[in-house]
Amino acid sequence: MTDQTRIPVPDHIAQAAHMDAEAYARTVESAARDPQGFWRGVGERLDWSRPFTEVKDVSFDRQDFRIRWFADGELNASVNCIDRHLPDRADQTAILFEGDDPSVDGRMTYAELHAEVCRMANVLKDLGAKKGDRITLYMPMIPLAAVAMLACARIGAVHSVVFGGFSPDSLGGRIEDCGSTIVITADEGKRGGKRIPLKANVDKALEKVAVDKVLMIRWTGADVPLTEGRDVVYEDVREAASTECAPEPMNAEDPLFILYTSGSTGKPKGVLHTTGGYLAWAAYTHELVFDYKPGDIYWCTADVGWVTGHSYIVYGPLANGATTLVFEGVPTWPDAGRCWQVVDKHKVNIFYTAPTALRALMREGDDWVTNSDRSSLRLLGSVGEPINPEAWLWYHRVVGDGRCPVVDTWWQTETGGILISPLPGVTELKPGSATKPLPGVMPAIVTNEGDILQGAAEGPLCITESWPGQMRTVYGDHNRFIETYFTTFPGKYFTGDGARRDADGYYWITGRIDDVLNVSGHRLGTAEIESALVSHPAVSEAAVVGYPHDIKGQGVWAYVTLKADQEPSEDLRKALVTHVRAEIGPIASPDVIQWAPGLPKTRSGKIMRRILRKIAENETSALGDTSTLADPSVVDDLVRNRPG
Ligand code: PRX
Repeated sequence: MTDQTRIPVPDHIAQAAHMDAEAYARTVESAARDPQGFWRGVGERLDWSRPFTEVKDVSFDRQDFRIRWFADGELNASVNCIDRHLPDRADQTAILFEGDDPSVDGRMTYAELHAEVCRMANVLKDLGAKKGDRITLYMPMIPLAAVAMLACARIGAVHSVVFGGFSPDSLGGRIEDCGSTIVITADEGKRGGKRIPLKANVDKALEKVAVDKVLMIRWTGADVPLTEGRDVVYEDVREAASTECAPEPMNAEDPLFILYTSGSTGKPKGVLHTTGGYLAWAAYTHELVFDYKPGDIYWCTADVGWVTGHSYIVYGPLANGATTLVFEGVPTWPDAGRCWQVVDKHKVNIFYTAPTALRALMREGDDWVTNSDRSSLRLLGSVGEPINPEAWLWYHRVVGDGRCPVVDTWWQTETGGILISPLPGVTELKPGSATKPLPGVMPAIVTNEGDILQGAAEGPLCITESWPGQMRTVYGDHNRFIETYFTTFPGKYFTGDGARRDADGYYWITGRIDDVLNVSGHRLGTAEIESALVSHPAVSEAAVVGYPHDIKGQGVWAYVTLKADQEPSEDLRKALVTHVRAEIGPIASPDVIQWAPGLPKTRSGKIMRRILRKIAENETSALGDTSTLADPSVVDDLVRNRPG
């Protein structure tokens, strides 16, 4: 049904949009005819202290591998996000803040943002930070999180933001991997009425890995212990720090940040993004996809711990001089009407969230939405996972009163910004489809052998040409970068996703086709959860797969084989869940633990995940050929004892 459902571009949107259908056709054509010219235009959106003359210098070939954009240019990301707006909009709100507690809010103008970023930059310098140093941020969703990112950018330090929901162990691993010398955190965070012990988690992480300094922001005022000589309270040094700080000139290809994300194997990898290309792509796509116009109030509900927060709360909107809303709380607290109360309070025009939040809100009933006004809304966005047509239609009909286009934006931590998405003034919408590539973006659906398919097709999704926001390496492991993304289909970037393209050329992302899960829009590697499980003394072996989950999109299903002297019990099940939460973080909690006396393996010892997935999905009649298994009887046992 949904392939046929089409929602036309509303006239009033098309008339006022940055790009209408004609301009889109022209841009796509010019990007194909004169890529260098097209990309130069994208790069020229930024202010360069030394203008670039080179545009694209890329080869995906193993022998000659390189990804370089605007490579002889120099710029500073914080200047582009702040200083260059000061002549025109010093007094415009840059960051609107809405606290977890609905009675708490605030705002910071561009002039104030400038002063605060300079202050923190000077504090960081006093703590010994310099260009190229890595600084880990473990922060609540407060304006100072954005300030800390921009302060790093100002002095040329490379930030690595770790989501505040990750455990001390996960935090410590990330601090160690990139060799951070400084951690910026807060005493505590607040979320949904609860306190998050950020500083205590940092202290715990630092029992295993050392840093020189911890800069702690006082936020809740909790009484937290400080380590003499290492810990500095920001509020104690802030006043004395100057509100001017000369920006460090950065080469376009100098790193801006590292962000850890899960892959199909091993530990999370440090995705590295550079200054020029990343920022240009974040700014270009933010303006185009959200049809951002001066004066708009823009709200993305992500956390700065994820790439969506980097590109579409901080860098993209601020590079465009927007007013970006930073929300500390969660959509369901104090009640399921919170988002729409915030929309009305701040007159939000553009709202960007994740399908998992929409599904959770949809379940609470329409009244929470319809009791609000929402007339300020013009555009709705979705990101992070496939959006089921039912949630899409609810978003469009109930939240948007049928008048706001929904942009379903497909992208990844690796892509830096959106690659496939409708444009509000251009694209006829099909609920559940991310629709078409942005100008300059060259997706391809390939066969398992890597041959590019034409027309309607389904298969692995690759991107054949680089774009400026593409990640440049896995921090500290360039080989892993090339192995992971450019080896399965040589000469192409492999996304890890599968997709279908319909006869109209619309893309429908079908989800990950590697061993990566997408749980509530959060990326998790099955290997990570498995290694957390087997690190528990009772566990001998574990295999984790995803299964369809009404709210989370995917749930975590863990098959666990216990050591010979262990008995399955409800207490042990709870202990394992607690263990995974402590090792990785609550987002990785197994939803189901199935005791498995044995796991289905090939004779060479490889776990047959395909079979485990089918059992978890309750498609036990479609298990396929099990005759190649070393011991086919383990499958019967798993099917017989499948919980639920
Ligand atoms: O599987 C795709 C899914 O999320 C993955 C990327 O996750 P992450 O790097 O954490 O970035 C999330 C925010 C950009 C993709 O490989 N994904 C993301 N957006 C969509 C999506 N799947 C379907 N539709 C989307 N709009």
